[in-house]
Formats: sequence, structure tokens, C-alpha cells
Amino acid sequence: MKKRTIISFLAIGLLLTACYYDKEEALYGTAATACDTTAVTYAGTIAPMMSANCNSCHSGSAASGGVVTSTYASLSVIALNGTLGHSVNWDSGLSPMPKGGSKLPTCDLAKIKKWVNLGAPNN
Ligand code: HEC
Repeated sequence: MKKRTIISFLAIGLLLTACYYDKEEALYGTAATACDTTAVTYAGTIAPMMSANCNSCHSGSAASGGVVTSTYASLSVIALNGTLGHSVNWDSGLSPMPKGGSKLPTCDLAKIKKWVNLGAPNN
């Protein structure tokens, strides 16, 4: 076998192994605890998440940074302009949120992304 053929096989082998780790179970835990983003709603999913992680600093007239996460009206604005997603994903350019805390669980981030991609509906 030529050297180049052997290298190609090795490369293909590596690619196939890499794909294995893209499996949902590997990224989000076992099938039993897989992240379910099928039924994401504002009232049932997003509002409780904001209440648990964000509203302590982001509600009322003295909300930190002038950002209010406790009402649909203001949250939907930062959801649709991309600010919400960038801050919770700790993307560069914005303050990472929740401030002083740890990043939200991957599944929560996936749910926020799903809600934003749906157009941040008030449901
Ligand atoms: C402990 C208080 C605190 C918590 C909890 C918190 N924030 Fe913030 N947030 C701030 C402060 C203070 C600012 C103003 C910018 C700064 O000082 O970093 C801010 C700014 C922001 C901004 C604007 C970011 C920017 O760079 O313009 C967004 C969006 C935001 N927060 C969303 C959230 C969300 C969503 C959560 C919950 C996941 C959250 N915050 C939790 C304190 C907090």
C-alpha cells in the first residue's frame, strides 16, 4: 500500500471518530437526561429561568445596566436584537451573564436559543 493511501485511511478514521462525539448523548448527557427543546414557551420555560437567574438584578426602575429581564416587553427586545443570547453565551463584546455567577447549563442555553429563533413569542 502506498504511504499516501495509508494516511488517507488514517484521516478518514479520525473524521469518523470525531463524528461519534457529536452525538446528542455525548453533548447533553445520557438519553434519559437529554435536553428537550420541543416545548419551549415564554411562560413555561423562559420566564422561570429569568426569575431564577436574572431578575434579582434586572427588574424594576433600578435594573442593572438598564436591562430588564422580568417583563416580556423588555426581554423580547433584547432577545430579538441578540443581546440576550450573546450575554448568556459569554460571547466577547458583552458582559457575561449572570454577572458574578456561573454560565447557565447547556440545556438552558439551548432553550433560550430555541425561543429566540422562534421569534421570542409571548406564549
Ligand atoms: C448579580 C447581578 C446580575 C445578575 C444575576 C445578572 N446580571 Fe445582567 N447585568 C448586571 C450588571 C451590573 C450589568 C451592567 C453591565 C456590567 O456591569 O457588566 C448587566 C448587564 C446585562 C446585559 C447587557 C450586557 C451588555 O454588555 O450590554 C444583559 C443583556 C444582561 N445583563 C442580561 C442578564 C441575564 C439574561 C441574566 C440572567 C441569566 C443576568 N443578566 C443576570 C448584573 C446582573
